[in-house]
Parts: sequence; structure tokens; C-alpha cells
Amino acid sequence: MTDPLIAAAAEAWKRAFAPYSKFRVGAALEAEDGTVVPGCNVESASYGLTICAERCAIFRGVSDGYHCFKRVAVVTDTPTPTPPCGACRQLLWEFAPDAEVLLANLKGDVVRWTVRELIPGAFDAKQLT
Ligand code: THU
Repeated sequence: MTDPLIAAAAEAWKRAFAPYSKFRVGAALEAEDGTVVPGCNVESASYGLTICAERCAIFRGVSDGYHCFKRVAVVTDTPTPTPPCGACRQLLWEFAPDAEVLLANLKGDVVRWTVRELIPGAFDAKQLT
């Protein structure tokens, strides 16, 4: 039985807008109250403006009033699940430091990490004081 958070990320994967890279990514975050916030990568013809699926979901969630997430799922159509890029790891650290990360592909392979494992020694607001 597929974890519902992975199922939500797989639905978001279908909405990915990736005409340039053709690399679709879907993500879903679970807020502390159980609310699921999906996101997908959205690419721009000005390539550098592209937003990753994970950060799309984080910004969407924060704009809806959710500032802390307890689980994250990321789905790609790849032979093995895809790890989040460095920029997404940073944002996950800031808004989901204690989260479990479920990386899945459409075949159903799942790799589990924690955000803490993915970004050791992170920069955050503590360094700004
Ligand atoms: N991408 C994500 O959505 N998440 C990541 O963590 C890595 C990369 C997207 C950005 C771009 O649209 C495509 O994958 C290829 O880099």
C-alpha cells in the first residue's frame, strides 16, 4: 500500500512543468496538523528562474500559514529515487528540520532519509544573531 504522502507527490509529479529538462519532479509536505501541501517543479524559458518541486511546496505551504513540516515525499520517474538538491535541502532545514524524507520513483522504490542526515552542519537563523 502506497504511503498517502508519496501518492500526493506522484499526483503533483503529473503537474510538473518541465519542457526544457523533461525531468519531472513531484513533492508533498505533511504539516504538523496532517495537512498535505503538494508542489512540482516549474521551469522557465529563462532557465535560472526554475523552481524545484520541494521549494515550490515549501513556499506554497508557508504562504498558506504552515511553517513546520514533519514529513516530505519526492517522486521522480527514474531508475532510483532522486535526492533533493542543495538549495532544497537548505529550505527543508529551515522549515522541516525534524522531518523524515521519503524519496520514491514511479516503480515504487522508496529510500528514506531525515532532513538532518541530508544537511549536516547547516547554516540557519542561529548564525544571523
Ligand atoms: N529539480 C527539482 O524539482 N528538485 C530537485 O531537488 C532537483 C531538481 C528540478 C529542477 C529542474 O526543473 C529539473 O529538476 C532538472 O534539474
